Amino acid sequence: MSHIQIPPGLTELLQGYTVEVLRRQPPDLIDFAVEYFTCLREARAQDSDTVITPATAFQEQEVVGSATAEEDNEESDTDSDELELEVPAPNRFARRVSVCAETFNPDEDDDDNDPKVVYPKTDEQRCRLQDACKDILLFKNLDQEQLSQVLDAMFEKTVKPEEHVIEQGDDGDNFYVIERGTYDILVTKDNQTRSVGQYDNRGSFGELALMYNTPRAATIVATSEGALWGLDRVTFRRIIVKNNAKKRKMFESFIESVPLFKSLEVSERMKIVDVIGEKVYKDGERIITQGEKADSFYIIESGEVSILIKSKTKSSRNDGNQEVEIAHCHKGQYFGELALVTNKPRAASAYAVGDVKCLVMDVQAFERLLGPCMDIMKRNITHYEEQLVKMFGSTLDLMDPGQ
Ligand code: CMP
Ligand code: CMP
Repeated sequence: MSHIQIPPGLTELLQGYTVEVLRRQPPDLIDFAVEYFTCLREARAQDSDTVITPATAFQEQEVVGSATAEEDNEESDTDSDELELEVPAPNRFARRVSVCAETFNPDEDDDDNDPKVVYPKTDEQRCRLQDACKDILLFKNLDQEQLSQVLDAMFEKTVKPEEHVIEQGDDGDNFYVIERGTYDILVTKDNQTRSVGQYDNRGSFGELALMYNTPRAATIVATSEGALWGLDRVTFRRIIVKNNAKKRKMFESFIESVPLFKSLEVSERMKIVDVIGEKVYKDGERIITQGEKADSFYIIESGEVSILIKSKTKSSRNDGNQEVEIAHCHKGQYFGELALVTNKPRAASAYAVGDVKCLVMDVQAFERLLGPCMDIMKRNITHYEEQLVKMFGSTLDLMDPGQ
């Protein structure tokens, strides 16, 4: 029997078409096919540099084409609390997205009838995607079904050095999870652009414009070759924003009770809830390792955490190799702020005592949201120094960023 070879790309091409048919339910499959494949051919001719999947190309063309009619409506509605679902625009070239009249009520369990966005993936792609997403805080409180819908909807995007992945002021199209690469976060204010941080081969960005229906708050520029996983706006809002409503109910009263956050406005506390993720640790598990690079801040939701230090400074209680307990933290207390404030490696290790639940915030959110709490944190850091002097007879100069 002769072998029939499947031409490369055929499967993906037909899958892309099928996904769009299922999403849009067109009345005439042949007319829709003509429209779909024509868009695809035009996108290929226009943008030979960009990796375009069949579905993204189609959405891009359609979205750009239908944008302007809805713009005025969209602009006049920015302060509404109601969240609108929008046509997915899986990459940044689709600047203006059109708005469906649909409103989003986080309490309604309405997502069962919605068409799901699915980007077919090979096993190898799925492995890389799962690895990139395993520490993403916004995904931490999703149930299994929600997470698998998010992963299905994510699409791969490679970037070149100096490429602007997100432009401050644009409308939000996608949320991005970093698989690899380094990125600068640039904020322009009063005509001055400054770098407010970096991403180094991990983390995620682009959630703010999608969560709050605001223009992009920063420009994200690749500073190396890199790879990202994008999640379209509609899926992000349907799953992550809906889950945030649940998170607010779960964590609102706890966050209100955290002494560090007492001076914050209610809206500031809610922004914290929106970006935190819950992590659980077993008795004895190490949460933070002394000497490691830091990228998270922790608040104890339940259980206790022991802070241990190995000091180079020898004392009667420490020969320099043994870990000595320097603090014991309880529910409502925080730790892991020191390295983020000083830009130094972790000054001590933190271990779970019994089962522990922590609310975790990444360094970018810490810097963006906790400015008003900085004085309190700095005051506490001076207490750490006094305590270390008492224990070891000399200060480790915790606030010196050069160490
Ligand atoms: P968004 O506003 O959608 O697009 C730019 C993204 O940059 C933003 O979401 C955040 O994910 C990220 N970001 C990181 N640090 C900051 C910061 N200090 N200010 C604004 N955005 C930031
Ligand atoms: P960080 O250095 O990021 O990680 C270890 C954490 O232990 C540190 O932040 C503080 O939050 C916490 N800690 C508690 N007591 C001390 C102390 N006396 N010296 C240093 N860190 C301390």
